[in-house]
Amino acid sequence: VPDPESANSRWSEMLGDWAIPDRLLASAPRSPYFFDPQVFRSAAEESLTRADDTPSDAAAREVLSSDGSVLDVGCGAGAASLRLRPARLCGVDSNSTLLKAFAEVAAGSGIEADTVEGAWPEVAALCPVADVVVCHHVLYNVPDLASFATALHAHARRRVVIELTAVHPMDWMAPYWHALHGLVQPDHPSAEDAVAVLTEAGFVVEQERWSRAYQMIGESGDAALERTARRLCLPAARLDELRRVLETDPPPKERDIVTLWWPA
Ligand SMILES: C[S@@+](CC[C@H](N)C(=O)[O-])C[C@H]1O[C@@H](n2cnc3c(N)ncnc32)[C@H](O)[C@@H]1O
Repeated sequence: VPDPESANSRWSEMLGDWAIPDRLLASAPRSPYFFDPQVFRSAAEESLTRADDTPSDAAAREVLSSDGSVLDVGCGAGAASLRLRPARLCGVDSNSTLLKAFAEVAAGSGIEADTVEGAWPEVAALCPVADVVVCHHVLYNVPDLASFATALHAHARRRVVIELTAVHPMDWMAPYWHALHGLVQPDHPSAEDAVAVLTEAGFVVEQERWSRAYQMIGESGDAALERTARRLCLPAARLDELRRVLETDPPPKERDIVTLWWPA
């Protein structure tokens, strides 16, 4: 029986506070829970052409030799791992469309990569051990963070490198939930809460805080407006209202990121 006072239980409970109320889900024209494959594909392609390493790239590269291997958990289209160009690479993702994008972007850049489709840690036994296990922008999807991280640790020969937003990735939408639905979004959990879970699980975590442009929101224009409306469970009839709210209170251009790493 999990200890309700543990950092892991608190993490899970805090994530639960982000659930969209049933009344709004019931009236949503389309599911507000979705990933736009194009956003992640662009992020992966951009990562391959970026001149400078981010702190997460640097944390992985520090322990990666030229014949080294990387396991990318929740790889999306590969923004965390492709630019490291490891000799051996495996991407794991539960989303088959994104995993296909990962394989395509890798092949297009001459990087050999294996893929495993499925949810971590359930598919962990099918995945190779690697020198570095990277996991970017996945933790806020994971209720049982301790089990998830323990499986990451078990697959790393040298280091685990995690990247996450300092606060929940949907935090930027809190003003819009409030303006359009009168809903107050939680201000937790944060990256510090994740560190508490990892520390409780026995890992000696180092961290670096930095900031990056908001690539997950993507471009402006009608496509972005419609994506935001969908996340907010808004019908088409309220698009103009959302447009006005966004003009008055535009989304932030940057966000705080935290890189976490610990030795295998
Ligand atoms: C926000 S995206 C980040 C993708 C990529 N790491 C990046 O930084 O661009 C989160 C990804 O994690 C995947 N994901 C979420 N939970 C997962 C789990 N338990 N096991 C495997 N993949 C998962 C999603 O399908 C999605 O592709």
